[in-house]
Amino acid sequence: MKPLLLAALLAGSLAAADVPVRITVDTAAPGHAVSPRLHGIFFEDINYAADGGLYAELVQNRSFEHDEHFYSYGKVARGSAAGDLSIETADPLNAKNPHYLRLAVREPGKGFGIANYGFGGIALQQGENYFFSVRARADAAFATAHGALRAMLEDETGRPLGECQLENLGAAWAQLDGTIKSTATAAHARLVVLATAAGRVDLDVVSLFPEHTFKHRRNGLRADLAQMLADLHPAFMRFPGGCIVEGMDLPNRYQWKNSIGDIAERPENWNRWQDAIRGQTAPQYYQTYGLGFFEYFQLCEDLGAEPLPILNCGMACEFQSKQTVPLDQLDPFVQDALDLIEFANGSADSPWGAKRAALGHPAPFNLKMLGVGNEQWGDTYFERYPVFYRAIKAKYSAIQLVTSAGPGVDAGDYDRWKLAWDKFKNGTPADIVDEHYYRPPQWFLDHATRYDAQDRAGPKIFAGEFAAHDRARRNTLRAAIAEAAFMTGLVRNADIVAMSSYAPLFAKAGATQWVPDLIWFDNTRVYGSPSYYVQALFAGNRPDVALPVAVESAAPAAAPAAKPLPALFAVAGRDAHTAELILTVVNPFAEARTADLELRGATRVAPDARATVLASASADDENSFDTPRKVVPREEAVAVSGTAFSRMFPAQSLTILRLKINE
Ligand code: AHR
Repeated sequence: MKPLLLAALLAGSLAAADVPVRITVDTAAPGHAVSPRLHGIFFEDINYAADGGLYAELVQNRSFEHDEHFYSYGKVARGSAAGDLSIETADPLNAKNPHYLRLAVREPGKGFGIANYGFGGIALQQGENYFFSVRARADAAFATAHGALRAMLEDETGRPLGECQLENLGAAWAQLDGTIKSTATAAHARLVVLATAAGRVDLDVVSLFPEHTFKHRRNGLRADLAQMLADLHPAFMRFPGGCIVEGMDLPNRYQWKNSIGDIAERPENWNRWQDAIRGQTAPQYYQTYGLGFFEYFQLCEDLGAEPLPILNCGMACEFQSKQTVPLDQLDPFVQDALDLIEFANGSADSPWGAKRAALGHPAPFNLKMLGVGNEQWGDTYFERYPVFYRAIKAKYSAIQLVTSAGPGVDAGDYDRWKLAWDKFKNGTPADIVDEHYYRPPQWFLDHATRYDAQDRAGPKIFAGEFAAHDRARRNTLRAAIAEAAFMTGLVRNADIVAMSSYAPLFAKAGATQWVPDLIWFDNTRVYGSPSYYVQALFAGNRPDVALPVAVESAAPAAAPAAKPLPALFAVAGRDAHTAELILTVVNPFAEARTADLELRGATRVAPDARATVLASASADDENSFDTPRKVVPREEAVAVSGTAFSRMFPAQSLTILRLKINE
């Protein structure tokens, strides 16, 4: 900086924003390869992300297994109809699904049965087909009277929107299927199932799916929500959590074997997110496991994302019950891990590979990583992980194990994996350590250099769950830009930082247990938060090779920081496919900054560059259902005059510059 400028700044006559910033990219000194897995997604059934969310099932409590067995149902008696509804358990459909509904119809009138109100209403689209199915049986009286089931769609006023009729109910449980085309669009419709004759009818697994799911899969996913994931181009997907892997207590933990096969054979479990961290408690939040491990693997394949399942390591949530499986009783947990690898990768002749093939996927899912425990810490974990390590590596040496660093990035033992590296590296080392940080925006600015001095000989890092928690934990631009500033550090260190994912992924408006979140939806709409666009921009502009960047400004940025921050946060690299230079610049401060950019080592820059800018009028700006595109990236053409040029970076912004050099 020129002495006069510095003097002016010190005298207070020059704003920090007026101090020139120089960003130099050394284009001739390619650095480390950037991990191709760097940006992915983390899915957990929290905030109604699965049932009532991504999983396209429209009926809530389809198997009557909620504690409140009639939850989301109502009795319907049309005309002179009369009868009783009861929940029964004798001679059930199967032992894993012990409750079912009995209709005891005394007088059929114009139909006696039930209505299901879905997850706060059933959303229907005009002209769309809906697949109805139910497991049912009937007594001889009903059969003799040629009784049938009418499955009807109705809007909230009772207006009929379509129906199908199912006949030939027998004495044994059987699945009945029908298709209903909706004649209108409705946001709060219901499904009505009526018996047409006197007698006894038993019903279970009452189900309604739109025909149009993501990739048109049966038992599929909501197309609009899954498309939001596809648009993130995730390199991997971590599933199924999160805390639900651990469970509040051990019986509540996620057990993947309960999540595959016939949906009627998947025992329901209460969701530990009945208990809210921030938001509404949800006493009727259950896991049907309809979106189970097969569907997760299939989704990964559909998204082109590597699967990263996380399994329980014999420990329930250490904040809650702290239940632990004794070391000498860990075998079933370890066996679950071994069986999962065989389920994913084994040949169709192997016992678990055969199950995958029977589900319609004879080819392996190509699993390469497996997580052992979520947010576990302390001696209890360090004793259990080696048991998994030895068994898994003995049989599947190529599988990389992801270990937990615990929940508290500021806790003394958070870095234990790295500190204990010497102890473990010749025995049972971590391949990848899963670090979580939910902190205020300033923390993300202060820690953008977190991995600059990371020991490259130690385990790789997975920034597995992070989000900037702004005031009132809102999904503001300020939070998103702080995450972007931090992520420049992830890319800069992407030789050791192998993976990253924001968390949580989904939030259903009015049904959240945790905020902020990446993607917001209700039964008919979806929008991305500003953080969503940060993730999308980083994933869509991940360089293959890093290039050195220097950000110089004589004065540190005027921001309250524990240590001096750069005037701008920047990272650069090359896209091997397009041969473009990608320069990512984040300005998290309240004033725009102009930088002099120099592409050192470049002889020529194509004049027609592109910039993508995420910015908005205020750092408090958020997206919403009413203004879903208030904070979205805007593309602009950039006229570049040579290998040195200036550019203004707006306040609170993320800019991606793509430049063709030396062509
Ligand atoms: O993302 C929400 C929760 O945060 C996850 O379930 C857990 O891993 C972390 O505490």
